[in-house]
Amino acid sequence: MTAMQHVSLGAHYVVHLPTPDDFAFWRERARQLIQCDVPPDRVSWVEPGGTGDLFAQEGPSRGERRLPLPEKSARQVRASKRFMKLARNAALHSDPERFGLLYRVLWRLQSKPRCMEDKADADVRRVEELDKSVRRDSHKMHAFVRFREVTDETGAEHYVAWFEPDHHIVRANAGFFMRRFANMNWSILTPRGCLHWDGTTMRESGPARREDAPGGDPVEALWKSYYSSIFNPARLKVGAMLAEMPKKYWKNMPESELIPELIAGAQAREAGMVAAGAREDRKLPSSVDAIAQGIGACRDCPIAECSTRAVMGEGALGARLMIVGEQPGDQEDEQGKPFVGPAGQLLDEYLTKVGIARSQAYVTNAVKHFKFTWKGKRRLHQSPTAKEIDACRWWLEAERSVVKPRVVLALGASAARGLLGKTVSIARARGTPMPLEDGSELWVTAHPSYLLRLDGEARAEQAAKFESDLEAVRARLTQIAGC
Ligand code: URA
Repeated sequence: MTAMQHVSLGAHYVVHLPTPDDFAFWRERARQLIQCDVPPDRVSWVEPGGTGDLFAQEGPSRGERRLPLPEKSARQVRASKRFMKLARNAALHSDPERFGLLYRVLWRLQSKPRCMEDKADADVRRVEELDKSVRRDSHKMHAFVRFREVTDETGAEHYVAWFEPDHHIVRANAGFFMRRFANMNWSILTPRGCLHWDGTTMRESGPARREDAPGGDPVEALWKSYYSSIFNPARLKVGAMLAEMPKKYWKNMPESELIPELIAGAQAREAGMVAAGAREDRKLPSSVDAIAQGIGACRDCPIAECSTRAVMGEGALGARLMIVGEQPGDQEDEQGKPFVGPAGQLLDEYLTKVGIARSQAYVTNAVKHFKFTWKGKRRLHQSPTAKEIDACRWWLEAERSVVKPRVVLALGASAARGLLGKTVSIARARGTPMPLEDGSELWVTAHPSYLLRLDGEARAEQAAKFESDLEAVRARLTQIAGC
């Protein structure tokens, strides 16, 4: 019997999802059913423990084994990118009808590829609502999970948190917590299942009860610094604040004592969010203050969420020389100033040697936040990816348009990429200036932290090249000043 005959006989299919959040499983089965032309009213989607199997008594029970198989020549299944993006989240919603809803929309997409844009389509609107509500739940999990330190049976420290999600979002957010707390041993307990991370492996276990989680003080310092970085001034509105942070979370929140301080800075941060938003319109912020506020609020790449603060460039406006590094390091992140740590000290030493006054230059970085990984209690620098550098280029461009340097000196490959939008080899690019689109010229040299990692002859050789690059820049500045 072919798939079409199944349908004409009115066969009803029941698909049992192995877990309530298994989008990949749904996608595979949905593709198979669409290829066999099984309309939505002939399929029931049942999640574990679910009651959605209305036909189980009269139709084929455990229909999974009996799903029709598409013929080899079956047509491709159409699914727009937007649908897939929303469906992935919507599948995590706690609405028991969600899989059927998704299948209806996928079915419709086969004959109406633009149906996701149809404002009047109630199913599409519902998928959007589910997506939004799941995103919101994930956001709450990121913001309100509170770890408490416990000592396990081996005497090792372990951090345990209790959280009550509204939807099936726990597994989908495992990666977020793994990246954020990579070097901690932690467990997140929830009534929808638990996650356990030991620094290398993620394990899952079944639902937990609140009593399974420890009481006591959360790890305050960690959470206070985390909360400062995610605080959103818009939540100052009490109504919005209550909606965003339901009271059930409040008693667990050590950061509530930070609120007065954050309120004091909220106006500036709000202005920053406006500056960050202006990016959509491609309007470069026109003052150093607007840029500083904008980078403080920028979340265009994930680095910002872990660092303490954005580090703005500093120096003379109208400086002839702009020096661009890679990204703030540990000390720059602490102090909020560029090049104040070991690499900065080495840079200062060579600038002085060749006769460039740092006070006459503008010093900044290609990436404005510190990217690091924890090693025990130390934060170790991690290089930004090309994508992260590119996300920050906008701010560097804004700084250049305000400072208007004649000469820009890029320290290292990340800085060069921030200025050129492409990767260049330092060995090939050094020594010869390149024109930038605003009329200034770009000189490229190594990053001082590269010298710090070398010793012996290798260091002496690279130091000589570095000095000679700076010397060439100084000579060029002298020439420009004389014009
Ligand atoms: N390294 C950089 O690239 N920039 C700094 O500000 C500090 C270290």
